[in-house]
Amino acid sequence: MNVFITKNIPQAGIVLLQEKGINLTINPTENILSREEFIKICKENDVLLNVGANNLDEDFFQQCPNLKGIALFSVGFDVVHMPSANSRKIPVGNTPDVLSRATSDIAFLLMQSVARKSSYNHKKIINGEWGSFNALENLGQELYGKTLGIFGLGRIGFEMAKKCKAAFGMNIIYHNRSHNESAECELDATFVDFETLLAQSDVLSIHSNYTEENNELFNKNTFAKMKRNAIFINTARGKFHNEDDLFYALSNNIIWGAGLDVTNPEPMLPNNPLLSLPNCCILPHIGSATSEARNAMAICAAQNIIAVFEGKEMPFAVNF
Ligand code: DGY
Repeated sequence: MNVFITKNIPQAGIVLLQEKGINLTINPTENILSREEFIKICKENDVLLNVGANNLDEDFFQQCPNLKGIALFSVGFDVVHMPSANSRKIPVGNTPDVLSRATSDIAFLLMQSVARKSSYNHKKIINGEWGSFNALENLGQELYGKTLGIFGLGRIGFEMAKKCKAAFGMNIIYHNRSHNESAECELDATFVDFETLLAQSDVLSIHSNYTEENNELFNKNTFAKMKRNAIFINTARGKFHNEDDLFYALSNNIIWGAGLDVTNPEPMLPNNPLLSLPNCCILPHIGSATSEARNAMAICAAQNIIAVFEGKEMPFAVNF
């Protein structure tokens, strides 16, 4: 069986695949392949290990009729047009659980960085703007006893809620497709409707799978319904928020601050106006970027591929 890996992954996954005698083609360049090159190589392979944001749409599936499986090096599967995979009975697998702690760590870090203006103050030192002590300057806000609102309380949201509860005794509210019994029992989390989530959250953190229904759900209208002291955190997908509206909300004190690990598009250009704001902290999509998480993701992805090789169900399938 031939597998195309679109970018290098940790050795732990490569070794597992090689031990099974699976032929690997690893994209040797760090550059993103053109669509034509990408499809050309996919056509020559049985399984794709997709690392990054290649768009696996209906056209892709039409052009690669011999594909037997797709392993994603991510928990999110928004790059795959699932109806196209499903209609062709192509299994798609992701890397759940193993990155939940690392990704929620970044959400937690962004929340604190925004609340205490840490990245803004770091930039001030670099710019030679560290002046004398001023009791009225650099005032952040404390998070003790505040309300954390989670949009999409799954595995990552649960980890974020757990940390916020333990560190700051935060009150947890959440909006989800269904009730999360463990969060309600263990964290005393309360299920609320979306409007209540907007109105009551001091920190609103997105931990949902991205779908088109949620495209730019966080926009001028929804930011206007949030508290003036609210901190907006997005570590899920950039397409959840409208960037111009976020800029407007942040620069007009509609909300207090924002922490983003995801942008739209990625990479964000260095002249993006959000980068100039003192109340916005932005990271380059590093949620799962720890050695522990990335090794474990490589192993999950390899296990999904090996399942296709052995004619079994993928252990981390998102469809079959
Ligand atoms: C994920 O696993 O979905 C991360 O966002 C990396 O893409």
